Amino acid sequence: MIETSKAIDFARGQFSANPKVVVEAPGRINYIGEHTDYNGGLALPIAIDRGITLVITESSDGSRIRAISESQRDVVEVDLDDIVQAEAFAGWSRYLLGAVKVLLDDGYALRGADFSISSDLPLGSGLSSSAALLLAVVFGLSLHNGLDLSRDTVVELAHRAEKSYAGANVGYLDHFAIGFATSNRATMIDFATMKHKSCEIPFTELLVVDSNVHHSISDGGYGRRRVECENAAKILNHRFISEATIEEAESLSDVDLRNRAVHVVTENSRVQGVIGAFQEGKTGAHYLVESHESLRDNFQVSCAETDLIVEGVMRSGAEGARMVGGGFGGSCIVVGGDYEDLKSQVISDFSRRGFREPTFFRAGLSGVLRQAL
Ligand code: GLA
Repeated sequence: MIETSKAIDFARGQFSANPKVVVEAPGRINYIGEHTDYNGGLALPIAIDRGITLVITESSDGSRIRAISESQRDVVEVDLDDIVQAEAFAGWSRYLLGAVKVLLDDGYALRGADFSISSDLPLGSGLSSSAALLLAVVFGLSLHNGLDLSRDTVVELAHRAEKSYAGANVGYLDHFAIGFATSNRATMIDFATMKHKSCEIPFTELLVVDSNVHHSISDGGYGRRRVECENAAKILNHRFISEATIEEAESLSDVDLRNRAVHVVTENSRVQGVIGAFQEGKTGAHYLVESHESLRDNFQVSCAETDLIVEGVMRSGAEGARMVGGGFGGSCIVVGGDYEDLKSQVISDFSRRGFREPTFFRAGLSGVLRQAL
């Protein structure tokens, strides 16, 4: 996470006023349980020690929202009364103004605010940078305006903002993972009941390899997978495809629907397998490899670069690895192995294939959504 003092210095430089609220929202890795959230299934995400730091300064103009981000060129500047048309939101302002708009939609009275955003979380890397920004803004505005929103409400509003105003029909995984994160613990989520609880993790860090193939969830592939899963559930007369047995999933005659259903049903079993492994103090790393293979072959959301990372690290001594997030690029997590060996293997594989070099970092598992000032 960016040091709070550095984020505050950046904010002071932009708005020459003292900050009123500082909020940190972590990114997340999803240890296992991919594409299960919108299918009423199970997932086991963990928040990491990288994320977004949002500094809010009192606006000199009572009804104006201004925002600046260290990683974006354009400055957002809009009057609260003009945040009516969702269609007017473009680029990164969709997330920021979307979060403001859901609060206005629910009748909360908001004062003007100046936002400055610092981040050490790579964008579009499957580590939930967009959900982190939404949660930071909703939580930050709750504190700035004395709204005292419950954690459940913050999570629900951030999810609604992404669905309604940021153009992505995503599930609840990222918002739950960040909003309910506890330091150094994983969050077990059952999306059929929306119940969640934390569990111990038998390790303190993971290697993340960002393929540097960056995706946008609104590109179409994600939405198509959702529709296919819904169609498979309809054919089998289930509310969610997670309710199907493996025999039912395998009985589907359409090959795409069958493959999607098989992925979801087997992925839910793998989540249970990992929860059992964690309870015994083990990593359950082999489930990660099975998950990756199913995401590659059944769900078809991996890409040449993430497949190459997983193959390379497994060849050079890792215990397990898989892509995380929506797919079509993004990052892989790796368990076990020697950091330098894994890194040099992947770099040489990428160079042989002419791919852009990936980025490697060790992620600590201590992220929480919190007020830092
Ligand atoms: C993205 C979405 C999540 C979830 C994952 C896949 O991260 O935002 O809701 O569907 O993909 O597990």
